[in-house]
Amino acid sequence: MSRDVVAAMTAYTLELREAEIKLNQNEGPVDFPRELKDEILARIAERHWNIYPDFESMHLRGALAKVHGYETDNVLVGNGSNELLAAAVPTFVGPGTPVVYPKPSFALYEKLIAVAGGIALPIPVDPATGLLPLDAMLRAIERCDNAIVIVCSPNNPTGGVLPDGGVDALLATGATVLFDRAYGDFAEDSMPPLHDRLVTFSTFSKAWGLAGLRVGWLASTASTCREIRKVKLPYSLNIVSEAVAATALEHPEIRSRNVANTISERARVFEAMEKIEGVTPFPSRSNFIAFTTRRNAKDVFNDLHGRGILIRDICAAVPNALRVSIGTPSDNNAFLEALTSCA
Ligand SMILES: Cc1ncc(COP(=O)(O)O)c(C=O)c1O
Repeated sequence: MSRDVVAAMTAYTLELREAEIKLNQNEGPVDFPRELKDEILARIAERHWNIYPDFESMHLRGALAKVHGYETDNVLVGNGSNELLAAAVPTFVGPGTPVVYPKPSFALYEKLIAVAGGIALPIPVDPATGLLPLDAMLRAIERCDNAIVIVCSPNNPTGGVLPDGGVDALLATGATVLFDRAYGDFAEDSMPPLHDRLVTFSTFSKAWGLAGLRVGWLASTASTCREIRKVKLPYSLNIVSEAVAATALEHPEIRSRNVANTISERARVFEAMEKIEGVTPFPSRSNFIAFTTRRNAKDVFNDLHGRGILIRDICAAVPNALRVSIGTPSDNNAFLEALTSCA
C-alpha cells in the first residue's frame, strides 16, 4: 500500500473518530497497547510474507489450550467467531433439522440456519427479565427429535443471560448446544466443561478489544472439533492475527482491565439511564445496554447521531428500542448528556 493510501485511510479514521463517538458495535473502547503493536509488527516484518501461514494455526490453538487446560485438539481458531459459527452450523444442521434459539439474538444465527435448510424455532425473549427463556427452550426441545440449540449468553442485543445451570439443563435434553460466549467475560462466567454435544464459541473482538484483527475460537471435544474442521476453511487466520492473539494471551491483564472497566462503567451508565425520564434500560451482563424510550426510538437515534453519537437502532428486534455499547468514561458521559436532552 502506498504512503498516500495509508495517509488517506488514517485521515478517514481520524475524521470518523472526531465526528462520532462510536457506541454501536460492542467493540472494546480501548486500543491494544502501542508498544505491543510495535513489537509484534517488528516480528512480523521478519517473517516470509510469501509463505502461507500454518495450515492448522497450531501455535495459537496450543496457546489457547494451555490457558484453558485443554489439549490443542479441543480448540479451533477462525477469522472471527463468525467464521466458526458459519462452519459449525452446517456441521450439525441440515435440511429439516429443528433449531431452537432465543429471539431476538445475534442475527447471523437465523441466516446460517436458513442457509443450512434447518427449521427455525425461535423462543421469545423478554428483555426486562435479564434472563433468557430457559424453560420455554427446554419445552421446545422436548417437542423435537434431535434438536440443535444455538444460544448466546449474555444475549446480543438484549443483555440477559441463561439462568445458572442453563447449559447443563440444555445438554441434559440430549440436544447439541452451540454456546456463543462472545460476551461471556462481561458476565464473569466460566468456560463450561468440554462435552461431545457442546461447542463453545469465544472471540478476541470484545473483552480483548481486538475486533479489527478478526480472531475467534471454539472449544469442544477432539471428535467434535474434527467434525467441524471438515467444514471449516483452512488458513483462515493470517500471520498477523495469529501473532497478535497469541501475544495477547501472554498479557491476561489486558482482558482483565477491559472487563473490570466495562463492568464498573456498565453499572454507572445503567444507574444514570434509569434516572433519565422516558428511558427504560434493560438489565445487562454484557458490554452494552438495550433500552426503550418514551419518544419514538428512531427519532432519539437520529437526534443522538446528529450530536455525533452513534448507537444501534434495534427496533426491528425489540419494539422501540436502542442499544448502546459501554465506552470510555468520557464517551459514556457524552452519551448520557445527549440522551438526557433528547430522550
Ligand atoms: C453474539 C455474537 N457472536 C459472535 C459475534 C462475532 O464476533 P467475531 O468478531 O468474533 O466474529 C458477535 C459480534 O458482534 C456477536 O455479537
